[in-house]
Amino acid sequence: MRSKQNIGIIGLAVMGKNLALNIADHGYTVSVFNRSAKRTEEFLAKCVSTALKGYFTLEEFVQSLELPRKIILMVKAGNAVDATIRQLKPYLTEGDVIIDGGNSYFEQTINRSKELEAEGFHYFGVGISGGEEGARTGPAIMPGGDEKAYELIQPILTNISARAEGEPCCHYIGRDGAGHFVKMVHNGIEYADMQLICEAYLILKNMLNMSPPDLHAVFKEWNQGELNSYLISITSDIFTKKDLDSDNYLVDMILDVAGQKGTGKWTSQAALDLGVSIPTITGAVFERYLSSAKDLRMAASQLYGGSIKSEQKTTDFAESVRKALYASKICAYAQGFSLMLEASKHYGWNLNLSNIAKTFRGGCIIRAQFLNKIAEAYQTEPELANLLMNNYFKTSIQQYEQAWRNVVSTAITSGIPVPAFSSAISYFDSFRTHTLPMNLLQAQRDYFGTHTYKRIDKEGTYHTQW
Ligand code: 6PG
Repeated sequence: MRSKQNIGIIGLAVMGKNLALNIADHGYTVSVFNRSAKRTEEFLAKCVSTALKGYFTLEEFVQSLELPRKIILMVKAGNAVDATIRQLKPYLTEGDVIIDGGNSYFEQTINRSKELEAEGFHYFGVGISGGEEGARTGPAIMPGGDEKAYELIQPILTNISARAEGEPCCHYIGRDGAGHFVKMVHNGIEYADMQLICEAYLILKNMLNMSPPDLHAVFKEWNQGELNSYLISITSDIFTKKDLDSDNYLVDMILDVAGQKGTGKWTSQAALDLGVSIPTITGAVFERYLSSAKDLRMAASQLYGGSIKSEQKTTDFAESVRKALYASKICAYAQGFSLMLEASKHYGWNLNLSNIAKTFRGGCIIRAQFLNKIAEAYQTEPELANLLMNNYFKTSIQQYEQAWRNVVSTAITSGIPVPAFSSAISYFDSFRTHTLPMNLLQAQRDYFGTHTYKRIDKEGTYHTQW
């Protein structure tokens, strides 16, 4: 009798294919299935490894797997996940494990978990980050599901994940939707991180007249220090690429209209639902929306003479931009992590924010040296209410505050759009302001709607005939 395969993957788009190869590289046998047989055939034709076997019916695919079966779904988030589960179920046995490795919306994962666990299956929503390359060589992995059943998949997931500081970038996150929630917030932070880098680029380009080679050198240098990260490193690379169809650098030939698949929007929606302020992440989502109104922006630029007024600065201004970027980045991460903290309480996930920061240190898109500092902060203070309350981050912000204010105000005076930089500094200012003007707001609410207010000097709820 043919021996059974260790694990199965359904969905052979690029992430599924690369994950299958990665798992096989680690000594596991893998069965693969794809809705269109052609893709399976093409994949197998290129595959030299005997650890991979392809199947053309779901029944044969399921039967090829050892018990309890472990099946990773690498299909498009949404209806395709439900359809695949529906088709799979008749062939499964109690105790089998279904792992959704896509970017599913966490609430759908919660619902699917409930349903499948009631039927005797184990269901995991697993965030996988790192794009094509990460899937192939080691992604960051965020598994959510039943903690006991996690033992069944932990060895494989840990083995195939990236490593950072010698540790696997894969930690159990929490029940049902926790893994997908954390992956979603990873993406929200990614949106903010990218937007901040783009604003730094716009400032350097306009205020220091930097060319792509200059920008390459600046980002390369920044990547040697505390901003060291995957996103800064690829940004530096991007500025070296020449266009094949013109004499220009490729970056200057790319249309300034941002795409998105929706995970940044979901992060913002979750923050609104949970009542957490994440303006830099949300600002980054809104800026992508605004970028797509290209025709209208062009018309407005005619109307207002919208070109940026460039005020040339000396090169040490670049160092101020670096400081402003770092301080803003701290605020963006503080927002993302406070969203996870609130979700943890709301959904009872008991998230370990230090382990989450450790998971983000390697393999994923936001991987950065700075995550070591976040991991340390939550390790020493697991109950930390906000990253800005941690000593290391307090010192960084205080050291950079003047440069940060200078960069943001100069950008605004010069008409350079900096929604993420300015929202980050406003977030910090609101956060550290002892008395916000909400006393007046409460008075207004009470004035027009008898919404009542509280007083600073005594207990109780008050209403005034204004
Ligand atoms: C990852 C990425 C990935 C996503 C990109 C693009 O962690 O590997 O986050 O999940 O493909 O971030 O997202 P947008 O198309 O929304 O920019």
